[in-house]
Amino acid sequence: MTTNTDDSQPRHFLDVDDLTEAELFTVLDRAEEYKRALETGDNHADLEDQTLGMLFQKASTRTRVSFETGMTQLGGHAIFLGEDDIQLGRGEPLKDTSRALSRYVDAVMARVFKHENVEVLAEYADVPVVNGLTDDAHPCQTLADLQTIREQEDGFDGVSATWIGDGNNVAQSFALGCAMTDIDLTVATPEGYELDEEVLERARELGGDPTTTTDPVEAVSDADIIYTDVWISMGQEDERDVRMNDFEGFQVGADLLEHAPEASIMHCLPAHRGEEITDEAIESDQSIVFDQAENRLHAQKAVLSWLLE
Ligand code: CP
Repeated sequence: MTTNTDDSQPRHFLDVDDLTEAELFTVLDRAEEYKRALETGDNHADLEDQTLGMLFQKASTRTRVSFETGMTQLGGHAIFLGEDDIQLGRGEPLKDTSRALSRYVDAVMARVFKHENVEVLAEYADVPVVNGLTDDAHPCQTLADLQTIREQEDGFDGVSATWIGDGNNVAQSFALGCAMTDIDLTVATPEGYELDEEVLERARELGGDPTTTTDPVEAVSDADIIYTDVWISMGQEDERDVRMNDFEGFQVGADLLEHAPEASIMHCLPAHRGEEITDEAIESDQSIVFDQAENRLHAQKAVLSWLLE
């Protein structure tokens, strides 16, 4: 958590708990307003003439396109910077990249592997830095997830969500988001794939009380929301055989869903259909996966305009 209380320094968004609970709700309200405005053709050019530098060390469909489209819709501009398009790929220190970028752009969005690297970018930037995913956290995804749950459940009161599968970066930020919105969270993982204890502790400090289990059937039985993600993330391809074996029984498909016929199904995408989720599940009436993908656009517009105002 990097909450900055010094008004002369930019605010960054490196994980969900960089926002206070009140700020999180402000951003979620704004995301809802942007979505409505787009639907009624009443778009707001709140970031006219502003530029977002987008730094990607990893591949992306949703994050890249939603940030770039969001900046266009807000009257601004986004520049895509792949690692090999700039001097970072040739060994320039991150802090130099960060300081130079700060002289050109109004905000930086970075997708890097190590969380420490996005922290270095933020430390040396004179403009807001937004985490577009690290190995530890995916807070922009969580904003869209919360917006989606709020729409689906008409608020957060009494909502119970179950995370099924790997306790990965998406799960970790989601756990913090659930804690801040009073969503009752159960995390079902195979042994050895649990959320970091440090993240669970942060969730508890935020008022959450996540339940952890290795039993996927028990975990989904009372869930309003079932959320899963890939079992093999970028950079873990060598572990495929071991992971496929370890995650047996954790697939979101007919066997699990017979215990939760009313629950909504979420997935941050990209999905490996036939592994963590079946074709039938993602295409079913229970699936809200593509509303969730759409909400990346609205939520990111909201966090960018909030950081830059
Ligand atoms: N969910 C998500 O971050 O998707 P991309 O990797 O395509 O950006």
